[in-house]
Amino acid sequence: MDSFTFHNPTKLIFGKSQVEQLSEQLPKGITNVLIVYGGGSIKKNGVYDSVIKELNKANVMVHELSGVEPNPKLSTVREGVNLCKKENIDFLLAVGGGSVIDCTKTIAAGAKYNGDAWDLVTRKATPDGALPFGTVLTLAATGSEMNAGSVITNWETNEKYGWGYAPYTFPTFSILDPQNTVTVPRDQTIYGIVDMMTHLFEQYFHNPTQSPVQDEMIEGVLRTVIHTAPKLLDDLESYEHRETILYAGTIALNGMLQMGYRGDWASHNIEHAVSAVYDIPHAGGLAILFPNWMKHNLEVNEDRFVRMAVKVFAVDPAGKSNREIAEEGIEALRSFWTSLGAPKTLADYDIDNQKFDLIVDRAMKRGTFGNFSKLEGQDVEKILEMSK
Ligand code: NZQ
Ligand code: ZN
Repeated sequence: MDSFTFHNPTKLIFGKSQVEQLSEQLPKGITNVLIVYGGGSIKKNGVYDSVIKELNKANVMVHELSGVEPNPKLSTVREGVNLCKKENIDFLLAVGGGSVIDCTKTIAAGAKYNGDAWDLVTRKATPDGALPFGTVLTLAATGSEMNAGSVITNWETNEKYGWGYAPYTFPTFSILDPQNTVTVPRDQTIYGIVDMMTHLFEQYFHNPTQSPVQDEMIEGVLRTVIHTAPKLLDDLESYEHRETILYAGTIALNGMLQMGYRGDWASHNIEHAVSAVYDIPHAGGLAILFPNWMKHNLEVNEDRFVRMAVKVFAVDPAGKSNREIAEEGIEALRSFWTSLGAPKTLADYDIDNQKFDLIVDRAMKRGTFGNFSKLEGQDVEKILEMSK
């Protein structure tokens, strides 16, 4: 293992009706709270009303920023930053999925920065601080509720980047009630499952591999998600399955499983480049790209793929070569995602190879990437070609 320091300052509040804790979790002495939310799902399912009820108890002035898009836009971040400055906002509350939380994080840091928030996203500047913020999560997927990451898209330049700066972009608290996720539609539920699984795989494929505890934990979470996902899709209103998937999504990307090594994260980088050019759902892109990243990197460490096949997908190794076992594991992943209803090729989103050059350019903007294996532009192009 590499040496590491682990510090996750987010208070996690998990369970039925836990939104009732909201008012007491707000920092003392705040007066102006900005609630940030998306296109209106929280108004339909009652989450908005329960949040407002709690904020009223806390006797604070409530301001609103609504309409945060899936794949949140820089323009919305700027709108939020202006609002914070104009209204003297002293606390932000994200109510929604990863997009709303990510947008809130960059607004929080942008409000304390004397320049354009895009400088922070591109890492041209580091934040001087951030407004404190909490979250009420409504969708199991990204882990943003308990990490410092924020992914923002600039449609003027077709760039989508993840950034973050601890401790400023960690939520102060996150409230996770599985009941708030039962209205997540089928397609978004599938995307969430694919996203959290990919987070687990991105970490699983790492060097060095002297990480027996981490490996077993990741395999265990993956097996649980694989076991639970079809049951949840058969019964989208099941509290029990929503609860399992919600917890899995948080644990998959709150740093707990990535101590002592760096995950790969190349597929995320490629996917962000794809969705910077075509506005597709993040995990739709991952479902297409990730198995092809695996195929492309099979020879980097075949044993790792063999282990995944046997321990995650219960591939029977008897009488098979290592290559056959590894390939069967990758196929098992592809078939599993297809069985859930995830997309398989870029053509599923009507994407052909016309803009591959632009996607490669965007993916390479910050130089070579990937830790399990370093990718150059030509590798990205190959993976895109395999994904057509
Ligand atoms: O906008 P509303 O009306 O709220 O509807 C949303 C949105 O249309 C809907 N939704 C959310 N909760 C719901 C609900 N509908 C019904 N009932 C509910 N309870 O779901 C749609 C998608 O929401 P979004 O927040 O976009 O989804 P997700 O949580 O998957 O977030 C995706 C974004 O997160 C980034 C992605 O790149 C993408 O921009 N990521 C952030 C990461 C991080 N911060 O750590 C890591 C990830 O790898 C990822 O890159
Ligand atoms: Zn992701």
